[in-house]
Amino acid sequence: MSETTTTLPALSPALQRVFSGDYDREDLAELLADDDADRNQALFAAADRVRAEHVGDAVHLRGLVEFSNYCGRTCHYCGLRAADTSLQRYRMAPDEIVAAGLKAAELGYGTVVLQSGEDAWYSAEIVADIVRRLKAQADMAVTLCLGERPREDYALWREAGADRYLVRIETSNRDLYAALHPGMSFDHRAACLHTLRELGYQVGSGVLVGLPGQTEGLLADDLRFLRDLPADMVGIGPFIPHPGTPLADVEGGEVATVLRMVALTRLLLPDSHVVATTALGTADPQGREKALQAGANVLMPNVTPREFRALYEIYPDKICTDEEPEYCRGCLAARVGSLGRTVAIGRGDSPRWLRSAR
Ligand code: SAM
Ligand code: SF4
Ligand code: FES
Repeated sequence: MSETTTTLPALSPALQRVFSGDYDREDLAELLADDDADRNQALFAAADRVRAEHVGDAVHLRGLVEFSNYCGRTCHYCGLRAADTSLQRYRMAPDEIVAAGLKAAELGYGTVVLQSGEDAWYSAEIVADIVRRLKAQADMAVTLCLGERPREDYALWREAGADRYLVRIETSNRDLYAALHPGMSFDHRAACLHTLRELGYQVGSGVLVGLPGQTEGLLADDLRFLRDLPADMVGIGPFIPHPGTPLADVEGGEVATVLRMVALTRLLLPDSHVVATTALGTADPQGREKALQAGANVLMPNVTPREFRALYEIYPDKICTDEEPEYCRGCLAARVGSLGRTVAIGRGDSPRWLRSAR
């Protein structure tokens, strides 16, 4: 990232190379493996300054509606996987989804994110209708996160008014991807992201940190994948083991590694949005604040009706499952304020996307 004008204190040679734009995979891997407290602080401070310079101090809040926990996939890490027959499943009706989206608008959120397992019950037309109704009734951006669908579905939803789409790549390593996602492939997932870009969506992606077999070198590859996409929004979370899955006994992702990934994402994609993820807030009560001070600028408060919230159990002990949306709104405003930052007003489109769309 050669464009920044930030003045820097003494930085490690690898970090200096990242700043000069003349870095390689080994530099990123070295920074990701480095757990020296002072050097980490320098990395986070540098990412924080780049964040302030490129996307400002305001933190964007996106209201998240988790509308169905049915899923046809069997991702090895996820509590919603089809193979788990003990989970009580739910599907919100289209009217309930629209009402939850309008609730997000009422709370002042400029974006609603509609997320679910890969649930074929929601036909392309049903989703398009939900998007149209939300766009007609509220001045807000609509983000979809429904997994992999055919190009025609993505195109129909874009025509209906959907602004953004999230598909995490999870890992950009083909073999690791294949080992964790039966019947799925990295290449198809990446193709979905490229299709979404072509259709004019702001594209979000991200990575799970702490997957078995993942190395700093592979995480460095993930960062380069996100940079080259390029992603308009990036969410990086720790993998949190779920007892009902094949990865129940794996240790899970380290908060410190996630924070280093967040900081490096900011340096590689200075004017994209970077999320302080709920998974990070679950792994560490101060995790979201730490991410906001290491380059992140987005939070995703839950606005799913309370009766369903605990059932969207992708990992155990998820935060905010008992609180009402109003409570989380106040809680997050206080957390953001405690960092001397403000809550953003409006849709919060990706500055990177706005720049490239000009
Ligand atoms: N089904 C869609 C998909 O997979 O893209 C969207 C919903 S899925 C639950 C959203 C994200 O949850 C995934 O991209 C994955 O990164 C994350 N996730 C799933 N299981 C997790 C776990 N055990 N720990 C942390 N994050 C997890
Ligand atoms: Fe389904 Fe998404 Fe969970 Fe995979 S990560 S099992 S696609 S909900
Ligand atoms: Fe939900 Fe703090 S954000 S309780």
